[in-house]
Amino acid sequence: MTTALITGATAGIGAAFARRLAADGHNLVLVARDTKRLQAQATELHDRHGVEVEALTADLSTEDGINQVEKRLGDRRDGVDLLVNNAGFGNKGRFLEVSMADELTMLKVHCEAVLRLTAAGTEAMRERHRGAVINVASVAAFVPRGTYGASKAWVVSFTQGAARDLAGSGVRLMALCPGFVRTEFHQRAGMGTDNIPGWLWLDADKLVGAALTDLSRGKTVSVPDPRYKALTGLAKLAPRGVLGGISSRAGRKYGPQQ
Ligand SMILES: NC(=O)c1ccc[n+]([C@@H]2O[C@H](COP(=O)([O-])OP(=O)(O)OC[C@H]3O[C@@H](n4cnc5c(N)ncnc54)[C@H](OP(=O)(O)O)[C@@H]3O)[C@@H](O)[C@H]2O)c1
Repeated sequence: MTTALITGATAGIGAAFARRLAADGHNLVLVARDTKRLQAQATELHDRHGVEVEALTADLSTEDGINQVEKRLGDRRDGVDLLVNNAGFGNKGRFLEVSMADELTMLKVHCEAVLRLTAAGTEAMRERHRGAVINVASVAAFVPRGTYGASKAWVVSFTQGAARDLAGSGVRLMALCPGFVRTEFHQRAGMGTDNIPGWLWLDADKLVGAALTDLSRGKTVSVPDPRYKALTGLAKLAPRGVLGGISSRAGRKYGPQQ
C-alpha cells in the first residue's frame, strides 16, 4: 500500500486527486485549512474505498503550517510515496491593486511551501529509491499574467530543475499545467468567469486522470489537454507583447473592490 499527501485537498483539483487516488487504493494524507471539511472528506473516502485517510490541518501561508507538513513528509516510519503540491489561490485585482501582504502570501503558498515540501518529501523518497511529486502550476506559467503567472512559472522551472538533479534517484517530479478548471478557485478570488468561453473549461476528474498518465509516462511538464497543448504551442510562437495583452484580460474580470 502506498501513501499520497495532497495539499489543498478539500476542493477542486486537490479533491479530484484525493478521489482518484483513494479509488486506486492509496492511503491518503489530506492537507487544507478547514478542519471540518477535511474530516468529512477523510471519513467519506475511507468509507467508500477502505483506505486510511489522515486529515492534517495546516495553513501553508504560515511558518507553522509549512513546518507541520514538512514534519509529516519526513516521517520515515510512515513514508509518503506521492506528494501533490496543489494548494493555491488567485488574488483579486491587478498589480498594485493587490496589497503587498497578499502578494507575499501568494509567493509563500505557491513558491516557498512548494520548495520546502518538495525538499522534505524527496529527501525521504530518495532514501527509499522511489517516489514522485506533482507540483500543480498552470498554463499561466507560459504567458505574462501578473504575480500569479510569475509564481507558476517559478513552479515549472523549479520542478524541471529538481527533476533533472534527481534523475536516476528513483524519484520523479512533474509540473502539472492546467488551463481553466471548474473549481472554487475563481469564486474564491472574486473573479468573474463569463468572459471565458465554454470550450476552454476542463473537468477536474479528467484532468487528474490525464496528469497521472503523464506522470507514469515520465513527463516532467504536463499540459494534459489537446486544446491547451495547441494554445501553449501557439503561445511559444506569438510575440510576448501580444500574448501579454490577451492573457492579462482572459479570466481576470474582477467584481467591485471591497
Ligand atoms: N481552477 C483553475 O482554473 C486552475 C487553473 C490552473 C491552475 N490551478 C491551480 O490548481 C491548484 C488548485 O486550485 P483549484 O482550482 O482546485 O482551487 P480551489 O477549488 O479553490 O481549491 C483550493 C484548495 O487549496 C486549499 N488552500 C488554499 N489556500 C491554502 C493555504 N494557505 N493552506 C492550505 N491549503 C490551502 C483550499 O482549502 P482551504 O480553504 O480549506 O485551505 C482548497 O482545498 C492551485 O494551485 C491553482 O493555482 C487552477
